[in-house]
Amino acid sequence: MQDKVFFITGGGSGIGRACALAFAAQRARVVVAGRTFAKCQAVAHEIGPAALAIACDTSHSDDVQRALEDTVAHFGGLDGIVHSAGISPVGRVTEISEADWHTCLAIDLTSGFLLAKYGIPRLQARGGGVILNVAGTFGIRAATGKAAYAAAKAGLINLSRAIALDYARDNVRCNAICPGYVDTPLNDGFDPAARDAFLDRYQPLRGLVTASEVAALAVYLASDAARMVTGQVFVIDGGQQAGLFVP
Ligand SMILES: NC(=O)c1ccc[n+]([C@@H]2O[C@H](COP(=O)([O-])OP(=O)(O)OC[C@H]3O[C@@H](n4cnc5c(N)ncnc54)[C@H](O)[C@@H]3O)[C@@H](O)[C@H]2O)c1
Repeated sequence: MQDKVFFITGGGSGIGRACALAFAAQRARVVVAGRTFAKCQAVAHEIGPAALAIACDTSHSDDVQRALEDTVAHFGGLDGIVHSAGISPVGRVTEISEADWHTCLAIDLTSGFLLAKYGIPRLQARGGGVILNVAGTFGIRAATGKAAYAAAKAGLINLSRAIALDYARDNVRCNAICPGYVDTPLNDGFDPAARDAFLDRYQPLRGLVTASEVAALAVYLASDAARMVTGQVFVIDGGQQAGLFVP
């Protein structure tokens, strides 16, 4: 991965931040992109000259196009995208507003389309590349009170497969990563006692999945070691997706 250029969305915090640090540790160059520029800047500063912070709302086409242009202008090309930006709203279909539905779909699904649409020609220009979409286990099996999120992440998973098929002959690989519960700012609203009770009930392995463990999986999938891996869904969830767990 040395000197390869990766555009990492949601790079200012959580899994995106962990990916930026882990990719930089592999001597890749990273663009830390996200909606909150100050957070991206802090991560880029932590990494040093191999990182560039770019403000980018991934649900806005103009922002995505400009951010990718700036990436190529700064680093000379693009070799991969790690799309980790996302939101996780709560609500059943009768409870969420139409506006909140559209916002969730725009950020959690359409962003993946825009990044691929404007990123793939850049990857093709380098003879190939990698796209990793951070989806989530709720995109494989739904959960109560997560209608928009579950729908968007399911879409992102199958979008990843479609991209893998459509661009395989261009040497562009695309995979989805599905974390279960990861201890990141996304879950800040989760009361620790309720979280522990939830994990004890539903997660077979004890302990918390960390952002850096998700990033380690991303490093493998982005590396040449995964040269023949595309169109797949990788779960990291302490065993929740294995089946019905009766402790
Ligand atoms: N934490 C979990 O338990 C968990 C589980 C499954 C999937 N995920 C997914 O992992 C991804 C990363 O989440 P995280 O846990 O690191 O949470 P996080 O909140 O720390 O990171 C998400 C980042 O995305 C950014 N973001 C949100 N909307 C954006 C937009 N429109 N444009 C650009 N950036 C935007 C936020 O500013 C934030 O920095 C998300 O897609 C999330 O759905 C997380």
